[in-house]
Amino acid sequence: MAWSDWAGEVEVEPSIYAADFARLGEQLGALVEAGARVFHFDAGDGHFIPEITIGPVVIASISPLVHAWGAALDCHLMVEEPERHFASVAEAGGDSVTFHAETCADPARAIAAARALGLGVGVAFSPDTSVEEAAAAAEGADLVLCMSIHPGYSGQSFMPEAAARIARLRVLVPEETRVQVDGGINGDTVGLARDAGADLLVAGSAVFWHDDPARAYRKLSESVREPARG
Ligand code: DX5
Ligand code: ZN
Repeated sequence: MAWSDWAGEVEVEPSIYAADFARLGEQLGALVEAGARVFHFDAGDGHFIPEITIGPVVIASISPLVHAWGAALDCHLMVEEPERHFASVAEAGGDSVTFHAETCADPARAIAAARALGLGVGVAFSPDTSVEEAAAAAEGADLVLCMSIHPGYSGQSFMPEAAARIARLRVLVPEETRVQVDGGINGDTVGLARDAGADLLVAGSAVFWHDDPARAYRKLSESVREPARG
């Protein structure tokens, strides 16, 4: 399955990293009812980022539910040697892997390896990496992910310079390549990211760190549907 099979023109993707893991299935179900179709899943290894996050065993628990609801799992690998993990993500039921350009000497080979496993594929890049380098690494990928925080954890603030980086990226990559943004997306920043050209909008704390994540999700996606300002 490819991104074009499951993702709409614009997607607000709840980032599971910020969820209440004691209530994960229930929270994801409520978000699907609120319209979520793509969930963002953050794996971190304690090396590429200092934090250890969640991995394939959690994907395996939730993927049958997510797929039964007609939704998909977009897996952001904040890990060294990402290729080593593609097969376990695919076996656990992940639908797509996004690896970091900083971790990969041969992105074309990694993209081909992901595709050979039937996965969608993206290339992410951190705030210190040049946009040009990232765009070149993403050749042939479904998406390119511009980090608007230093990757690591949920709840950080959107770095304002990310807007210009997204805009530059949008003109550097082919039209069919999706541009994703991750970090500090909320009601105040989502418009900046959209106007700059991002169409896949990851949101962790803005969705889950609320009493009613489904309501927060609905509100955020409604604000995205409003026409761009200006
Ligand atoms: C952190 C992760 C993010 C995180 C985003 O590096 O990649 O996906 O969950 O959380 P917010 O939306 O709170 O910045
Ligand atoms: Zn992420």
